[in-house]
Amino acid sequence: MGSEHQIRNVSEMRIRALRMILALLPVLLLVPNTALAVDEDSCVSCHSSRDFMVTNRKLYDYFQKWRESLHMQEGVTCVDCHGGNNDVADKRAAHGRDLGESKAKSAVNFRNIPETCGDCHDDIYEGFRRSVHFEHLVAKEQEEQGPTCVTCHGSINVTVLDVNTVEATCSKCHNDETENHPETAGEARALLNRFLSIHRYYRYITVRGDPAKTKAFFEEIDRQIRDLTIGWHTFDLEKIEVKTEIVLESLRRKREQVAKAFKEKRSKP
Ligand code: HEC
Ligand code: HEC
Ligand code: HEC
Ligand code: HEC
Ligand code: HEC
Repeated sequence: MGSEHQIRNVSEMRIRALRMILALLPVLLLVPNTALAVDEDSCVSCHSSRDFMVTNRKLYDYFQKWRESLHMQEGVTCVDCHGGNNDVADKRAAHGRDLGESKAKSAVNFRNIPETCGDCHDDIYEGFRRSVHFEHLVAKEQEEQGPTCVTCHGSINVTVLDVNTVEATCSKCHNDETENHPETAGEARALLNRFLSIHRYYRYITVRGDPAKTKAFFEEIDRQIRDLTIGWHTFDLEKIEVKTEIVLESLRRKREQVAKAFKEKRSKP
């Protein structure tokens, strides 16, 4: 949900990463030129070459997408998703045998993607493993295949679907022509519309509420919102709808309390 609390955690993480780099700086400067420096990542140094702009445009574009990504900002690099060896400068040694996505053992082969992403997003992976979609990842027939993480989020430069984009993504497979539950696309949009309300109420309470009085409430609601995101990935839409209503209702009640307290405080002389 990108809630304020999570955002704060992310910037704290960045500050920590920056401190780490600053602490390492004297060490990095002392490393002799012959060896790869501590922070040198051979995947990044070779793939960043501008020569690829001419010789291999697709490769160049992938690199640019990563450079602009949230994952890059979070320090998630090529090896974290692709595997291989980023300590060696030679291409073949770095790549290893199973790099190309068409290889069955490749970390980014569509069947292996959930597990690869799940290395870090383990709670979401747990939810996804319980979904009908996950069952259909192993289907042999192309038209029966379910979506994987990158179908909805993209791969290198990930985004999160929202109320404006979700319907088009679901309806790639769920539409009248495929006759595969065509109603789910609209249902997903309606659900994410309520996620939007959750976000709106959340913000209101953050801005107007008394932090000392809302702390316990936020601890509980953050946990519930986290559960919603995990639950979302089971794609059991009926269950998600019930849980969404519960979260929305407690935010609505809190918002009313906060609004009332805010008014009373203002009207005092
Ligand atoms: C010395 C340069 C060099 C290094 C080091 C290097 N790559 Fe590559 N990579 C390439 C080139 C060039 C290609 C284009 C295909 C080819 O020539 O094999 C490529 C292709 C790829 C592909 C596309 C799949 C394929 O087989 O075409 C991926 C994914 C990839 N590299 C990831 C990595 C990762 C991860 C690392 C580090 C562990 C890495 N590369 C290290 C030069 C390099
Ligand atoms: C967050 C995970 C993630 C990171 C980080 C990431 N990739 Fe990828 N990459 C993927 C996934 C998943 C695919 C397969 C789906 C696709 O092609 O979009 C892919 C596909 C590719 C491809 C095309 C593969 C092929 O076989 O043709 C290239 C090239 C590539 N990545 C290079 C890189 C390089 C270089 C880096 C680091 C600068 C990098 N990736 C970082 C997840 C990632
Ligand atoms: C090495 C760890 C790591 C791997 C592997 C990884 N991620 Fe992430 N991802 C992160 C971190 C850290 C963040 C930022 C904090 C957060 O939102 O959890 C993040 C954020 C995200 C977000 C939220 C983006 C936003 O705008 O809020 C999505 C979606 C995402 N990752 C999808 C993926 C997908 C899909 C894959 C696999 C192709 C993947 N991740 C692989 C660590 C990872
Ligand atoms: C790449 C294709 C694909 C995409 C994209 C996709 N799905 Fe599915 N979905 C499937 C397949 C295949 C099934 C299994 C159908 C079956 O067994 O009857 C399925 C089943 C479902 C079911 C279970 C229906 C039931 O009760 O059995 C729901 C709910 C669902 N999808 C929701 C969604 C939502 C929401 C989105 C978008 C966020 C989405 N799907 C995107 C392929 C896809
Ligand atoms: C059929 C589409 C679909 C698939 C498949 C899917 N997701 Fe999602 N994902 C979504 C939607 C829609 C949201 C936004 C719902 C929300 O905010 O909780 C979301 C939310 C997220 C978030 C939270 C972003 C945030 O702001 O906190 C992460 C991280 C994420 N997904 C990772 C993954 C990973 C990893 C996988 C594979 C194991 C995956 N997703 C599979 C549709 C999908």
